Amino acid sequence: MTGSETAPTTVDTSRPHPARVYDWWLGGKDNYPVDEELARRILAVDGTAVRGAKANRRFMHRAVRTLAEQGVRQFLDIGTGIPTEPNLHQVAQGVASGARVVYADNDPIVLRHAQALLTGTAEGSTDYVHADVRDPDTILRLAAESLDLEQPVALSLVALTHYLDDDAYDLLAGYVDALAPGSFLVLSQVSPELDPPAIERVSDFFRTSGTPFFPRTAAEFGRFFAGLDLLEPGVCPVLDWRPEAEDEAAAKEGAVPVIAGVARKR
Ligand SMILES: C[S@@+](CC[C@H](N)C(=O)[O-])C[C@H]1O[C@@H](n2cnc3c(N)ncnc32)[C@H](O)[C@@H]1O
Repeated sequence: MTGSETAPTTVDTSRPHPARVYDWWLGGKDNYPVDEELARRILAVDGTAVRGAKANRRFMHRAVRTLAEQGVRQFLDIGTGIPTEPNLHQVAQGVASGARVVYADNDPIVLRHAQALLTGTAEGSTDYVHADVRDPDTILRLAAESLDLEQPVALSLVALTHYLDDDAYDLLAGYVDALAPGSFLVLSQVSPELDPPAIERVSDFFRTSGTPFFPRTAAEFGRFFAGLDLLEPGVCPVLDWRPEAEDEAAAKEGAVPVIAGVARKR
């Protein structure tokens, strides 16, 4: 484990945290009554929340598998969340046992459960950095202890950018600049377009609970990929990104307000 020596390990149960709310939607047990309360309030105004969380998680699996099958052997996943099997390293190392993975998150509860993420193959490596995505110097410095940043890396921020204001455009451009040609950027986030009034209420619930929230349209989201080559099918609803049988079945129950994209650095 890296970068955790001075990290806060106190879990604040007085207000909901995004990682734990998401864990409740995924059916996990690492959440508290405050998290369940917000998760249920959101579900009451946006009935897609549980399906959206699960669809988002499956997108991460498909994107990582796709990139591992294309030969990517290094993964930097920021905003990892509470471990939920299969985790990213299990997907990547399922394709290539030598894949190296670094996880990063800023929530003490993710740090507390990080041991469950550090169970990779002997041939590969799995590491965890406790840090804020807005501190790229720390994340990249610590990631470089186990990743070779001169070689391509798949950088993923899955369901994270909706917690970041528009400074995130420059922030992500800086991360991509630091990566080698042939690297990839994997993103998903909440979009208001499917049901604007519902997502406005979701945003209000997050904001009043202390979590800034920034849904983005597909056009706004697409700006994160400026200068990169989007993989087919481009920016699209998360269920439409190279769907498999489970996604096609889920889509029959209706769309979810999460959009996604994967792009390659030239
Ligand atoms: C909705 S969860 C997504 C988890 C996982 N990426 C997935 O899609 O299944 C968002 C995660 O981002 C983390 N997060 C939010 N803001 C962050 C920040 N500023 N820096 C690092 N992680 C952050 C939260 O702690 C949480 O674990």
